[in-house]
Amino acid sequence: MAASRGEFSSRIGFIMAAAGSAVGLGNIWGFPTQTASNGGAAFVLVYLVLAFCLAYPAFMAELLIGRYGQANAVTSLQKMSRTLFHKRFAFLVGFGGVICAALILSFYGILAGWMVSYAIEPIAKVIGSDTTATWVISQSLARNVLFTAIFMFLTVFVIRRGVEDGIEKWSKRLMPLLITLLIILIGYVFTLDGATEGLNAYLNPDISRVLEPDLLISALGQAFFSLSLGTSVMVIYGSYISKKENLVTLGAQVTLIDVSIAFLAGLLIIPAMYVAQAQGVAIFAEDGSLISGSGLVFTVLPSLFETMGGMGLFVAFAFFILMSVAALTSSISMLEGPVSFVVERHNVERKKATTFIGILIFIMSTAIISNIGVMLDFVATLATEYGQPIIAMLCCVFVGWIWHRSEILKELQEGNETVENSLFWKIWPWYTKFICPTAILIVFIHSL
Ligand code: PHE
Repeated sequence: MAASRGEFSSRIGFIMAAAGSAVGLGNIWGFPTQTASNGGAAFVLVYLVLAFCLAYPAFMAELLIGRYGQANAVTSLQKMSRTLFHKRFAFLVGFGGVICAALILSFYGILAGWMVSYAIEPIAKVIGSDTTATWVISQSLARNVLFTAIFMFLTVFVIRRGVEDGIEKWSKRLMPLLITLLIILIGYVFTLDGATEGLNAYLNPDISRVLEPDLLISALGQAFFSLSLGTSVMVIYGSYISKKENLVTLGAQVTLIDVSIAFLAGLLIIPAMYVAQAQGVAIFAEDGSLISGSGLVFTVLPSLFETMGGMGLFVAFAFFILMSVAALTSSISMLEGPVSFVVERHNVERKKATTFIGILIFIMSTAIISNIGVMLDFVATLATEYGQPIIAMLCCVFVGWIWHRSEILKELQEGNETVENSLFWKIWPWYTKFICPTAILIVFIHSL
C-alpha cells in the first residue's frame, strides 16, 4: 500500500496544493466581507494575530499527524493511539473530519457553481445570446443543479488522477493563474474613482472594536475555515509530504500565503465596493450596514461591472474565473479527504472511489438545492461553526495529550534536525497542549 499512496514530488508542489486548499472562497469572498462589516482594519489585525497564534499551531498539529501516520486521517490518528480507547476516539475524530469535508463540499460546490455560471454570463453576452446570459444567472433549480454538476465534475476529474498528476499538477497550474488575475484586477480597480476611499475604509483601524466578542469569533472562525482545519484535509496533505521536508517552515509558508492572499483580496473587494458607490450603486443595506455575502458578489459587483461598458464584460469574466479557480483548488482537497479514507481503509481503487463519492456528494448538493433557503445555511453552520472547531480542537488534544513528547520531536526532526533548539519547539508543544484547545473551546462556547 505504502508504495502506491503517492507523494508530492516537490516542496513547491506541496506548497501550491496546501495553499490551493487554504485559498478559496473563504479568502476572496469571506475575508473581505467580514472585514468590511467588522470595522475594517481592526478585523484584519485580529485576524492576523489569530491566524498566526492559533490557526498556525493547530495547522501544524494536523500536518504532523498526517506526516507521521503516512495515511488517511483515521489511520494516521490510530497509529498514534496506545489504547483501545484512544483508537476508538481516533476513529471518531478522523471520521468526523472526513464527514465534515464531505458536508462542506456539498454546499461549497453549489457556491462554486454560481461562480462558474457568472463567468459564463459575459461570454453569452459577447456572443449575443441574451437568453442564455439571463438563464445562467437565474436562481432556477435546473441552473443550480447543472452548474453544481459541472463544478463537481471538474473536482472529480482532478482527484481521479491522484496526488502528483491530479492535485499537485493542477494546483501548480491554477495557483499562479489565481495570483496573476488577482493582481491585475487590483491594479485595474485602483485606477477608478472611489478606490482611495475604499482603501481608507480598509486600512484605517477602528481600534475600539478590536476586543468585541463578535469580531473575535468571526476572525477565529474565518482563520480556521481558511486554513481548512478540522476536516481531515491537512492531515491527508501532510501525509503526502516527504520525510525530507521541514514541516515547520512549510506550514509557516502556507499560512503566510493564505493570509497574504486574503489581504490582497481585501485590496480588491473593498475598494471595488466604493468604486461601485461612486458609480451610483447602493452598497449599504436599509439598516445602514454594508451589503455583504451573496448580495455583494452577485449584486453590487455585477452592477459595478455593468457601469464599465464593454470593458466590464472582461472584468466580470476575469473576476468570476478567479473565484472559480480559487474554489476548485479548495474543493479538490475536500474530496481527497473522503477518497483517501475509502481507498486506504476499504481497498477500493482510487478512480472508482472518487467517482462514487463525487456522485454521493453531488446528490447531497441536490438535496440542499431543493430547499436552498433553509438547507444551505444549516449545512454550512453545522460543518463550519460546529464541526471544524471541534475536530480541530480534538486534533490538538491528540497531539498534546495522547502522543508522547519524544515521538512528536522525532517526527519534527525528520527534515529538520535542529528543531530541538528552535523557538518553535520551546513554545509549540505546550501551546498545542493547553492554549489551542482552551482558546478554541472558549470561542466555541461563546458562539453558542
Ligand atoms: N480554505 C477554503 C477556503 O478558504 C475552504 C476549505 C475548508 C477547504 C475546509 C478545505 C476544507 O475557501
